[in-house]
Amino acid sequence: ALFSTSSSAMAPTNVKNITVFGSGLMGAGIVQVAAQNAFNVTMVDLNPAALQKGQDIITSSLKRVAKKQFPEDAEKQKEFIDQTMSRVKTSTDSEAASKDADLIIEAIVENLKTKQQLFAMLDKVAPEHTLFCSNTSSLPIGEIAKATKRTDRFGGLHFFNPVPQMKLVEVIRTDATSQDSFDSLLDVCTRMKKTPVSCKDTPGFIVNRLLVPYMMESLRIVERGEATPQDVDVAMKLGAGFPMGPFELADFVGLDTMQYIVDGWRKEGKIDANLVAPVKLLDDLVAQGNFGRKSGQGFYSYS
Ligand code: CAA
Ligand code: NAD
Repeated sequence: ALFSTSSSAMAPTNVKNITVFGSGLMGAGIVQVAAQNAFNVTMVDLNPAALQKGQDIITSSLKRVAKKQFPEDAEKQKEFIDQTMSRVKTSTDSEAASKDADLIIEAIVENLKTKQQLFAMLDKVAPEHTLFCSNTSSLPIGEIAKATKRTDRFGGLHFFNPVPQMKLVEVIRTDATSQDSFDSLLDVCTRMKKTPVSCKDTPGFIVNRLLVPYMMESLRIVERGEATPQDVDVAMKLGAGFPMGPFELADFVGLDTMQYIVDGWRKEGKIDANLVAPVKLLDDLVAQGNFGRKSGQGFYSYS
């Protein structure tokens, strides 16, 4: 239509209040970076124990950042931490936590149905102007957005682990995302002192689309007996300038997460099946519960 009506004609949102769902590794990191950069943030999880975990992640990461920013000045470090934490509220009440949100960022489990259920509920309780975003690694944003009636105010904000350190955010627009919504999301990234890149709603967006097949091929090199994980890691760090080798990175991301991503893409069938063909080495480690850093054992030991 020549003239758009209703919601699609809304002006860009000046985001001040952000509500983050999920206080795990990614959610906590997003909350921290938002609070460091003057946003008011509410962190939501299912129960107080999960929220406490998120707060612990933030506290230890903030200490690191404070030490780097104000070396040798304990008072300034404390002031920085206190000020940042003063902008963080926590809640287990999804509805109350959404009432003042200009932007909702979802960083809960990587499960399409669970994400859709959350957004369907939020669509009913959040203000009309509130922008919705998912931090999903591998699910189509458009599919998650379908659970709502605000597909024009729905996009992806894909942060990277560890969030306080990694400067990139992929900003994903679906065919339905309005220009105003997209502009607001780019603005939020810049105010979080991150560098945004624009992505279409394709499997893995940019980074994971390249990174995951590369990591799978590294596993195949080892499985074929051509090199050890240690040698592959040294090779990619010193020969290609990567900060971590693919095995260190796989342990860092989580082997269960890696497996989940490739399994999902195989089923989806949108990318070359050879790139995401199963690798026994990965499947065996995951079956044994060796997920990498988070479980203490992956390709390397962490204890
Ligand atoms: N908050 C939280 N964790 C932090 C942190 C902070 N502010 N700063 C550093 N870290 C973590 C690292 O994970 C690591 O853990 P431990 O010390 O506890 O073992 C340690 O702190 C390393 O920190 P250093 O200060 O020694 O190292 P560094 O600052 O020079 O570099 C790094 C650390 C930025 C993680 C670097 O190694 C790097 O860039 N690695 C590659 C990370 C990467 O590729 N991430 C993307 C993964 S893919 C993804 O996230 C997308 C997805 O959808 C799965
Ligand atoms: P995580 O398991 O560390 O945290 C998920 C949190 O969400 C848990 O605390 C859980 O209790 C909570 N949760 C589950 N259902 C909820 C609900 N209905 N309401 C509120 N909270 C709920 O996971 P993570 O690694 O932080 O990943 C979160 C999301 O970010 C996933 O979509 C993942 O694909 C994506 N992601 C992960 C990485 C990574 O490297 N780990 C990188 C980029 C994106």
